[in-house]
Amino acid sequence: MSHQFNQYRQLLNQSFDHAVAYLESLPERPVDKHVTSDALRQAIGGELPQAPSCPDTVLNQLAVNVEQGLIGSGGPRFFGYAIGSAFPVSMAADWLVSAWDQNVPYYVSSPSMAIVEETAAEWVLELLGLSEHAGLGFTSGAQEAIYTALITARNTLLQRAGWDVAKQGLYGAPRINVVVSDQIHSTIKRALSMIGIGLEDIHTIPTDDNLRIIEDHIPEVLSRCEGPTLVCAQAGCIDSGAFDPFDALADAVESHPNAWLHVDGAIGLWAAVSDKQKYLVKGIERVDSIDTDGHKWFNMPYDCGLVIVKDASALACAMGGSNMGDYLNDAMAKPDRNAINFGISASRRARGVPVYAAIKALGKSGIEQHLDNCCELAQRMADKLRAVEGITILNDVVSNRFSAQFGTGNDEQRNQLTERVVHRLQQEGFCYPSTSGYKGLKTMLFSVLSCHTNEQDIDLSAEKIIAAFEIEREPVNQAGQPKHAEAVAQAEC
Ligand SMILES: Cc1ncc(COP(=O)(O)O)c(C=O)c1O
Repeated sequence: MSHQFNQYRQLLNQSFDHAVAYLESLPERPVDKHVTSDALRQAIGGELPQAPSCPDTVLNQLAVNVEQGLIGSGGPRFFGYAIGSAFPVSMAADWLVSAWDQNVPYYVSSPSMAIVEETAAEWVLELLGLSEHAGLGFTSGAQEAIYTALITARNTLLQRAGWDVAKQGLYGAPRINVVVSDQIHSTIKRALSMIGIGLEDIHTIPTDDNLRIIEDHIPEVLSRCEGPTLVCAQAGCIDSGAFDPFDALADAVESHPNAWLHVDGAIGLWAAVSDKQKYLVKGIERVDSIDTDGHKWFNMPYDCGLVIVKDASALACAMGGSNMGDYLNDAMAKPDRNAINFGISASRRARGVPVYAAIKALGKSGIEQHLDNCCELAQRMADKLRAVEGITILNDVVSNRFSAQFGTGNDEQRNQLTERVVHRLQQEGFCYPSTSGYKGLKTMLFSVLSCHTNEQDIDLSAEKIIAAFEIEREPVNQAGQPKHAEAVAQAEC
């Protein structure tokens, strides 16, 4: 068989054309095209192919067939959940990562990628104001970063209690108390259950109206925890953007005989880069471990997360990279960065490359401008909505997000109206907030994470949100029919 190198140019050119056409359509295309899963199955699925097909036809069909079911979350008016766009330079760098196709767990498997990731890690630590001696690994996202950090926390806490997890496993190990805010993200609970910590061992600290841990409760909850104790807080709550009080938490953890403080910074850690916002993360340099995402507020292409552990040797020890087998002894003996010491994955792509490219291209000031812009735009939207009678912003807007409710009736009426407004907006496809919950209430979650969003996107989206509220809040038209039902019927015609 001959080499296939001559196929790359044509196929990559084809990919390039499809990719750029998609990206350039984002400002105009509906955020969601509402295709059914059956229609997608019809277009994409089918019998297992038994014989080869022409690769360029496959690529063209793929691009055409998936188009209807792509969510325009990389565009300027996607405001739901916590999904960012991608800086153009990072996406371009990520294409090179695919072309180079390097495997990065060991320095020897790709020296250049190891040094790019080492440099990116050093730059990120400096940008965030964290210790240059901390260990930083690149993960698939915050979930894997949380998992990595909590494994390190568990092993270190048990080591201090005289128990070696690597040798003795977990059966019979001392129980670990866990302290979390009542707003902790589900991915923390998911990771806890994966590392052998059950819900019975969890103590909860209450939060205030902004969903921030109430400082006064911290010492009392910690005083109830005898033995190894893992405390998890948040830098940026999904529904309010609130940051927990890290100094107060670090004080309590430091006065406990065996405690570890982890911060889930998936949503808001990057605030540490901005001179205007870094007051929000005061004390973050004192915490033992942090997870964050590259692919949310930092606008890396999927997937990219980061785990940071203050004691790099604790991370390396928990990842167990020192014992990889004879065929890797030479690789592991190298003094240079072996990524396997900084994370769970063995083989993986070089996720640090898009991070490196963004920092090099934007510099600290460019990144800061992006972060501040998102917060100013979230504030701008909140101000516009707050000015409308019947729309309530539930939290102080300190970061890139807020939660809103629509209507003035009782809880149930406001919940229903809020849901209808958000669903209408999603159906229209001009802008895309999502539904969420806030201390038992149904809400509209609005988050600004994209480097592409500008003031006009906010102003036009505000008009759409207010218009959707006006339609949905009017219960009946002159004929006595529900107005929203009438509007849905018209849309269907
Ligand atoms: C607060 C918080 N933590 C962790 C995660 C998990 O992040 P990922 O989906 O990147 O794994 C999310 C996801 O939205 C989040 O909002």
